[in-house]
Amino acid sequence: MQNFMYYVPTKIHFGTDQLGYLSELKESGSKVLLVYGGGSIKRSGLYDAAMKVLVEAGLEIFECAGVEPNPRIQTVRRGVEICKENKIDMVLAIGGGSTIDCAKVIAAGAVYEGNAWDLVINPPLIKAALPIYSVLTLSATGSEMDAFAVISDLTKNEKWGTASDCMKPKMSILDPTLTYTVSKKQTAAGTADMMSHTFENYFNFVEGSEMQAGFAESILRCAVKYGPIALEDPTNYDARASLMWCASFAINGTLNAGCAAAWCVHPMEHELSAFYDITHGEGLAILTPVWMEYILSEKTAPRIAQFGRNVMNVTEKDDMAAAKEAIAALKTFFFETMGLPANLRAVGIVEKDNFEVMAQKAANGCVGSYVPLSKEDIVEIFNRAF
Ligand code: NZQ
Ligand code: ZN
Repeated sequence: MQNFMYYVPTKIHFGTDQLGYLSELKESGSKVLLVYGGGSIKRSGLYDAAMKVLVEAGLEIFECAGVEPNPRIQTVRRGVEICKENKIDMVLAIGGGSTIDCAKVIAAGAVYEGNAWDLVINPPLIKAALPIYSVLTLSATGSEMDAFAVISDLTKNEKWGTASDCMKPKMSILDPTLTYTVSKKQTAAGTADMMSHTFENYFNFVEGSEMQAGFAESILRCAVKYGPIALEDPTNYDARASLMWCASFAINGTLNAGCAAAWCVHPMEHELSAFYDITHGEGLAILTPVWMEYILSEKTAPRIAQFGRNVMNVTEKDDMAAAKEAIAALKTFFFETMGLPANLRAVGIVEKDNFEVMAQKAANGCVGSYVPLSKEDIVEIFNRAF
């Protein structure tokens, strides 16, 4: 196992009726910037319920609304301005990963003198951030308990992940019932996203990391079991709760502690989103089986076969044959059981003009991955996914 530093400072309040814990925000001061998306929290009544707690706690509330899926740097800048003008003490995100990511970079930008985009493309510049709180409404990204934030500038076809320990939320409320209203499309995409985070951590060649691999397999088994239940029965509490906790642990540093490898499917997907503004989890579902087929070799077959046997009920003894069965089973799960789009044309990408540029950027972003990928490899993966 490799050396590692493990730091997960986020306090989690998990379960039903946890909103009262928003009164804990008083620990960080009195002025709160509330960040939220396109209106789902107003339609569900969550906005009113949260406001009631915040007002009763004596907090002064400012708002940055309208965070886009694939959050834009322009929205981050708007939030930063509100923080600086009003001497905001803390940031509260209520929403999915996009809202939380946007809130994180607003919190860091609020205490940074320069342009907030600097913090997206150069993470070491993030030296401090206002305290960040979240109420999660969509199980997918794990942003509620991790250091990452992914921000886009679609005017330049750029989408980059940044990270800092100081952007890990101080407290997050995880109430599975708040995800009952998530659409089938976003439920499926979220399930694919948490599985992809798990795969990115699970596929490594580090000896002596059975605990991490077993934990990853457990998350994958839960996603495969509960994703379809949540699709069929959106108010199934155990399904929503399991997906929520799986999503947090897929990326909070537990699975890759001591066995880290650079991620590679994510850098490829971020290029799809940067150029075509597609839903992150759908892009991952399309790319993941193609990537697995592309990297399948005598060297990688044992781990892919292990995934097949321990997650997808593959019984084949030969590793290469079992790995092929595992990939086929994953395709069936994503594209038939979960109803996810199966190729790039299905998400509206109808030409290949940008593949070369996208592949070069993705290749720069995945140096040190499980199987090294060149620009040419990635162009081929995009072509096969087309
Ligand atoms: O904007 P609103 O109106 O809230 O609607 C959202 C949005 O349209 C809706 N939604 C959220 N909760 C809902 C709901 N609708 C009904 N009921 C609810 N309870 O769902 C839509 C998608 O929301 P979004 O936040 O964009 O989804 P997700 O959580 O999947 O976040 C995706 C973003 O996170 C980034 C992705 O790249 C993408 O930009 N990622 C962040 C990571 C991180 N911070 O660690 C890692 C990931 O790999 C990922 O890259
Ligand atoms: Zn992801």
